This record gives sequence, structure tokens and C-alpha cells, in this order.
Amino acid sequence: MLVSAKEMLDKAKAGHYAVGQFNINNLEWTKAILQTAQELNSPVILGVSEGAGKYMTGYKTVVGMVNGMLEEMNITVPVALHLDHGSYEACYKCIEAGFSSIMFDGSHYPIAENVEKTKELVAAAHEKGISIEAEVGSIGGEEDGVVGMGECADPQECKMIADLGIDFLAAGIGNIHGKYPANWQGLSFETLDAIQQLTGEMPLVLHGGTGIPEDMIKKAISLGVSKINVNTECQLSFAAATREYIEAGKDQAGKGFDPRKLLAPGAQAIKDTVKAKMEMFGSVGKA
Ligand code: 13P
Repeated sequence: MLVSAKEMLDKAKAGHYAVGQFNINNLEWTKAILQTAQELNSPVILGVSEGAGKYMTGYKTVVGMVNGMLEEMNITVPVALHLDHGSYEACYKCIEAGFSSIMFDGSHYPIAENVEKTKELVAAAHEKGISIEAEVGSIGGEEDGVVGMGECADPQECKMIADLGIDFLAAGIGNIHGKYPANWQGLSFETLDAIQQLTGEMPLVLHGGTGIPEDMIKKAISLGVSKINVNTECQLSFAAATREYIEAGKDQAGKGFDPRKLLAPGAQAIKDTVKAKMEMFGSVGKA
């Protein structure tokens, strides 16, 4: 059964490790992540962006697929199904569809509007036992070929949003989605420290987990990060393994064109990536 992400993240914050959120795109992705979490006895959060939700034909399909897998694969570790960077409308759709956790990304609104909408969604989510993440300070990344540098959130605004009763908080600290450019300045630990001082026990979320060096990950965890989002890195390792299979001509040998064979190296690559991250984040054996 899906669980809210609150308990696993409160536990992670107290235990000084982080739970990975791995974004899913299809059945292979979901299966590979769940298998790895179960094998490593780790809690896990499955992230679904609005785009990925649409790609999978809608949130109800995602809920049906994930619930089916939890049962058929005998998954016993805690699993949360979480909307990633949701709009106001998408949050309501996911609450209805049976997600166990949502993120409302109001970081592009003026702070007063972010506060207003977050407050309303906290009540709607909690009424159904669903956890909710909010965001302050937008997280940069590549859009139309332009890589925006991540903003640093205002710690006072973080405190304002944290006090609305959310379960965990994403704050920009110079992190961005996708690959980091060569001239990236690194995470702002000064900002993270100031945010944690004001928000106390609140688990903090680090987006853009792809490509952040291990020493920065460890330091971020020591300063209160309890959830780390990883998406691009699984996509890159899936693509590289699939490319290798095709370039070796394996799809043309025997029944190598069978999708169950063709997608197997990519699925294994996702498992290897997720395993490496879970080990780095310290969530192995914490289920
Ligand atoms: P990456 O794609 O950079 O790993 O970021 C994932 C993320 O933060 C999803 O919200």
C-alpha cells in the first residue's frame, strides 16, 4: 500500500540520511526502481511530473500501475507516489486520483500568492492523509536550450511557507535540474544553513540531484536535506545502455528485437543508478 512521505522523511531527518525521489516514465522505470528499493530494504519516493503523468495517459493510470506492482511484486518497503512540481490544478487531480504525496510548486508566484495557494492545498492534502511539499526560490535548469542558474531562496520566505503546515520544503540553493554546466558555482551551504536554522525539524528537499558530487550531497544531508530528487541521471544511464545494445547489433541477433530483451539493459542501468544513489544518500536498510 502506498504511504505518505511524511513519516519516512521525518525519520530520515532524525537519522541524518536522505530518501531518494526517482522520477518514473513508464512501466520499466517503475519496476526497476521498486525492485531496487526492495532489494536494498530502502524507503523510496516515486516522482511523477505533469509531463510524465500525461505521457502515461493520466494520473489514474499511474496509480493503477503502481498499486498493482506493489501487490504483484510483494513490495514491503515504504513507497510514496508523489506529484513532482505540480501546478495548483494538478495537485487536486492527484489528490483525487490516489497519489499519496504531492508537491505544489508555487515558486513562480509572488510570495503572498504562493502562501495562499499552499495553505489551501495543505488542508486538501491532509484531509486525505496525503503529504505535501512546497517550494520557495525557483530551481533553475535547461529550458529551450538556455541553462538558468538556480536561485537561492530567501530564508524568511522559507520560514513563512514552512509554518503553513507543509510536510517538507524544497528551497533553491543554487541547484538546477539536468546536467550542471562547467561553470556551476556549487550549492550554497550558507543559504541551506540559514534555512535550516529557521525551519528547524522540517525535512528539506534537494532537487536536481543529477551530477551533484558526493561530498556536496553529504554536506547537504548534514544540514537538514532529507529528500533528494533524481531524474536525468536515470534517463542518461538508460539511454547509454540502450545505445550500447543497439550499436552492438544485438537487436538484430535472434529475437533481440523483443522489447523485453531490448529494454532489459536500460532497466538494469536504472537499477544500478538507483542503487548507487541510495547508498550515497544512506537510505539502504532504513525501510
Ligand atoms: P535532475 O533531473 O537534475 O536529477 O532533477 C530531478 C528533480 O529535481 C525532479 O524534481
